[in-house]
Amino acid sequence: MSIPTGEWQAVLQALPQGPGGREEPPELFREAYDLPQQGRRVAARYARLTAAFRERFPGAPLLLARAPGRINLIGEHTDYNGLPVMPMAVDRDVAALFCSREDAGVVLTNTDPAFPERRFQATLPVAPGAAGDWGNYCKAAVQALMEHFRGGPQERSWRGFQATVDGNIPPAAGMSSSSALVVLFALIFLRVNSLEMEVIELAGLLAAAERYVGTQGGGMDQAISLMGRPGQALKIDFFPLRTRPAPLPTGYAFVVANSLVQAAKSADALDRYNRRPIECRLAAAVLRMAFSRRLGREPSLSLLGDLKPEKLGLSEEEITQTARGALHERPYTLRELSALLGEPPEAVAAAYCSRRDGTIFPEPADGFKLFQRYRHVVEEGRRVEAAFAALQRGEVTSLGRLMNESHGSCRDLYEISCPELDALVEIALKSGALGSRLTGAGFGGCTVSLVESGRVGRFISALAREYYRGLPGREEGELEDLVFPSRAARGAGVLGG
Ligand code: GLA
Repeated sequence: MSIPTGEWQAVLQALPQGPGGREEPPELFREAYDLPQQGRRVAARYARLTAAFRERFPGAPLLLARAPGRINLIGEHTDYNGLPVMPMAVDRDVAALFCSREDAGVVLTNTDPAFPERRFQATLPVAPGAAGDWGNYCKAAVQALMEHFRGGPQERSWRGFQATVDGNIPPAAGMSSSSALVVLFALIFLRVNSLEMEVIELAGLLAAAERYVGTQGGGMDQAISLMGRPGQALKIDFFPLRTRPAPLPTGYAFVVANSLVQAAKSADALDRYNRRPIECRLAAAVLRMAFSRRLGREPSLSLLGDLKPEKLGLSEEEITQTARGALHERPYTLRELSALLGEPPEAVAAAYCSRRDGTIFPEPADGFKLFQRYRHVVEEGRRVEAAFAALQRGEVTSLGRLMNESHGSCRDLYEISCPELDALVEIALKSGALGSRLTGAGFGGCTVSLVESGRVGRFISALAREYYRGLPGREEGELEDLVFPSRAARGAGVLGG
């Protein structure tokens, strides 16, 4: 595929040479971006990135890495409960030019001045910077990899690197800009140290690594950023991690719309996110007691995803009946949980409510909502399986319906929506979407809507009119960064070297 613009040729000259030589954009680019549509934009971006790298690190030989963000089509907050998700990697990504160093120094610069230069040493342990600092995502990856290889035959004094990063995943928008950064830096660190890892193993390692920044997330974001496939979504299962490609329906688009409510996970919003895994763990603990009474033995049940016939030796119906009988709809207090679990309140808090820094998550004023969280997680897991089957059969209407049910459950049972996301979903459905839901962690961020390809233009105009017009802080021409159809792109990769 030739894109005969002078701009593009100049970029290819500067970039590391891919297998296709310098005449054609390398496969990494062809599978990452819609070059026939966006070739000029992509070329201009890489030209800017190349210039920024060269200016800061003159003369250094360069390699390129990129890691995409994602949208999750369905399966929200199921991953850390051991139930599936179905995301796709998108053509918005973080890209970096980089080169290795002789010493262990890591120097990071960013084309966006909001992210100032960061430096640290690739030696264990790596002390995190202030909460929310972008350098922490690099430290998380480097620290996890050094620990992984510690004591093994490949351990050595590690080489650092210098990199200039450019990202176009909307930040704090539920599209995994932070996990994309962790993946990007992991690939860079592996490359400069000539290390290789199985992608599945790396995905698991990076999911754990990201807890370094304080979130108790699951493994979806790192897995899809590493393993995304052009034109396909992936159904991802956990413990152990495994993936199955899901064909996307032809003639339909997934349109992302940013609510403009920031959902930063690295600042105070962390607690709002982390409350859910805590409530799920508590629900699983209460259910473990109920199932051990029912079975007369200790069941293997530590996650809500363990509520399965093959784990418990009961039918689906028996499991649902027992679980529903064991949990009441009224929120739980810590005192009640302590009585149920037969442990002092402090022991329950220490076992189930600890933050990463060792402090205890306070008892929520409105109580622990175990029944509601249980119901969402288990039903959402079933919806993912049903959506996967619908995609395989090309049943677009069923997919849309499942997306709508998912949003309702995220809103009412898991309580991770907000009025702006609900408004966007409502406008989307009124404007012809077959399905629409929040995507990602929630509390703001984006929605994803399933729309017939031929109606995308009208759909976007309707959202522009009904949601974005007159919103404060929005500049003209910015719309294409706020609401856009998203293509399923390939996962992360490195070029050159
Ligand atoms: C965040 C986490 C994921 C997942 C989603 C919600 O993105 O990083 O692991 O839990 O929220 O589905």
